[in-house]
Amino acid sequence: MLVVASLLLSLPLFAQDGDKGQILGSPHDLTTYANLAQTGNGNGQLCAYCHIPHAVQGGGAGSTPAGLPLLWNHQLPTNTTYTPYSSATLKTTTVSGDMSTPNAFYSLACLSCHDGSVALGAVYRMPDNDTLNTTVTMANLQADGPMHLVGLGNNLSQTHPVNFTYDATLVAADSGIWNVGTAANIRQIGLGTALTAVRPGTQADANGALLQPILFNGTVQCASCHNPHSEASLDFLRVPVASTNANNTAAVPSLLCLKCHSTNVLYN
Ligand code: HEC
Ligand code: HEC
Ligand code: HEC
Ligand code: HEC
Repeated sequence: MLVVASLLLSLPLFAQDGDKGQILGSPHDLTTYANLAQTGNGNGQLCAYCHIPHAVQGGGAGSTPAGLPLLWNHQLPTNTTYTPYSSATLKTTTVSGDMSTPNAFYSLACLSCHDGSVALGAVYRMPDNDTLNTTVTMANLQADGPMHLVGLGNNLSQTHPVNFTYDATLVAADSGIWNVGTAANIRQIGLGTALTAVRPGTQADANGALLQPILFNGTVQCASCHNPHSEASLDFLRVPVASTNANNTAAVPSLLCLKCHSTNVLYN
């Protein structure tokens, strides 16, 4: 009964993240890249680059490290220490380049392809009847320019800070960001717990995903701003940045940024 109850509880929560079918034809549809051609007769498996329904059990070759969430299948980088963003005006002291922690999974999962260190088809378990290409990396792909390498050489110093805590203490130190507890249009996902809408959003994109950034267990990660399953907004963004975007009913430029940042006080 508990299992059934938790399934019922989780279904509408997942639905808030939109239709996974929207990956088809997007840059995250890795079955479409000619130099990634899959061999076998599985006709190209879309989700398998990132998730697998049944991981290899028991350790050894092809098995998934214990404790990975979301049935994760893409091999994670071996070196999980990154140079974090820093600046004299940053109020947070929690930005961490250590991507081996549970919260950091929501950045490390992206970096596993985007830092270029792991082949795009290097998965823990090959899907049935298909073999993914294990030599082509992000650096070899670059279908539309060299922009997609983020964290190259384990360097995140020129990327919006990720892997840090966004909580009441930070809000007290920086009145240029919204209070996540009351005002911010941000969603919280606690690891292993239910998703709660801090300020329930009414806006949804064309794929049913709520137009809100997400904090993972109170932390900002790559997937706070990006939804890897939906390109309803350019660049897989959870909230469109441009006011010209049809999804942006509020018609505020840089809407994504202003979900967390306020323009009230600078350099407080
Ligand atoms: C390019 C990699 C990638 C592909 C392909 C991908 N996912 Fe995901 N998926 C992720 C990442 C990263 C997360 C964690 C971040 C998040 O929750 O948005 C995730 C989270 C999820 C979640 C949990 C959160 C949610 O949004 O409901 C589900 C369920 C899921 N994926 C299903 C799928 C299915 C089904 C497919 C294939 C149709 C798929 N994914 C394809 C990367 C991918
Ligand atoms: C399995 C590998 C893989 C994973 C995991 C992955 N990506 Fe990607 N991503 C790609 C590929 C391949 C492209 C297309 C590259 C190209 O066209 O040169 C891409 C493109 C993108 C783009 C550009 C979209 C556009 O319209 O040009 C963004 C943004 C992006 N990914 C963000 C993310 C984020 C954030 C995550 C984690 C939540 C993530 N990706 C996880 C493989 C991956
Ligand atoms: C604070 C929000 C935010 C976070 C956190 C974030 N991104 Fe982005 N990302 C953006 C925005 C906005 C764009 C679109 C930039 C543009 O239009 O030039 C973007 C663009 C991208 C692109 C497309 C290429 C490019 O550089 O324009 C990739 C790939 C990408 N992000 C990956 C990542 C990865 C990997 C992480 C984590 C290390 C991450 N992002 C964290 C907001 C974010
Ligand atoms: C999920 C919430 C969130 C989103 C969305 C977001 N930010 Fe941030 N950003 C933060 C937080 C929190 C900090 C850390 C503030 C601090 O410590 O003073 C930060 C830091 C920054 C900094 C560094 C400030 C410094 O003093 O060095 C800049 C610049 C910035 N963000 C710009 C942007 C832009 C531009 C966008 C939109 C593309 C954006 N942010 C989207 C939460 C967010």
